[in-house]
Amino acid sequence: MKRKVTKAIFPVAGLGTRFLPATKSVPKEIMTLVDRPLIQYAIDEARAAGIEDFIFVTSRGKSALEDYFDLAPDLETSLEKSGKTELLRMLRATNMESGAIAYLRQHKALGLGHAVSCAAKLIGDEPFAVILPDDVIAGDTPCLQQMVEAYAETGGSMVAAMQVAPDKISSYGVLDVAGTDGPIVAVKGMVEKPAPGTAPSNFAAIGRYILTPDVMRNLADIPKGAGGEIQLTDAIASEITQGRDVFGYEFKGERYDCGSKAGFLQATVAFALARADLRDELVAYLRQLDVCAR
Ligand code: G1P
Repeated sequence: MKRKVTKAIFPVAGLGTRFLPATKSVPKEIMTLVDRPLIQYAIDEARAAGIEDFIFVTSRGKSALEDYFDLAPDLETSLEKSGKTELLRMLRATNMESGAIAYLRQHKALGLGHAVSCAAKLIGDEPFAVILPDDVIAGDTPCLQQMVEAYAETGGSMVAAMQVAPDKISSYGVLDVAGTDGPIVAVKGMVEKPAPGTAPSNFAAIGRYILTPDVMRNLADIPKGAGGEIQLTDAIASEITQGRDVFGYEFKGERYDCGSKAGFLQATVAFALARADLRDELVAYLRQLDVCAR
């Protein structure tokens, strides 16, 4: 029987060097798209998919993340007193129950696979989700929810998949595709950051995963891979060599690579344009800039 997915791992140990000097003191995941930190989008998506236990794999210098998820009693009282009920509602929607959230430290930056493996004891013998907060996905149905629904049919392990341009594919984990059935992609192999010209397809793995406990076990055994790091992609690929199913899921939605400055800026504009309170002013400003005409 396939088990319900109730635990999610959020690897947030990265140094965020691409966003220096901001990330000297602000964790990348706290940086805001309009007025919500990146991590809030990831949490909201996980909640919508039925996740109940949130596991953060952090590193030194990330304590602002823990503070963000703490209650803010003084702020709540002052908003209450001044009758700012809408702000209060918004603030309370970010509260997490004490028992629902766990923080672990990855002591050495040994790669995404290693970060995920740090949560092995908390995951136990259950399927689990992994969400990379850098990948922000906007859509009518949140991406992880789409995947949880598909996984209920397929079982196995499942990776969010997106077709990307050939000149970009080497930046991703890439799926070797056996066939497709609607959004479900049957996967016969996976390779992390293939050398240019060697990618087995243009299907890239995007930062949403539903993984079986076998993947966690594989992580304990696999050697270092691309970039000298323990790669999650390799642990998933081992599933296939061991005869277990792995699927890609071509989600519906717009994905923004908020690990890059250009992607972060695009997401900022897109999310602002989607906001009724900001749209008109921003459109007027963009028209005035008239950048496309130059
Ligand atoms: C990570 C994964 C890669 C995946 C990508 C998606 O890479 O290792 O397989 O395609 O996220 O964003 P990173 O972006 O951390 O280099």
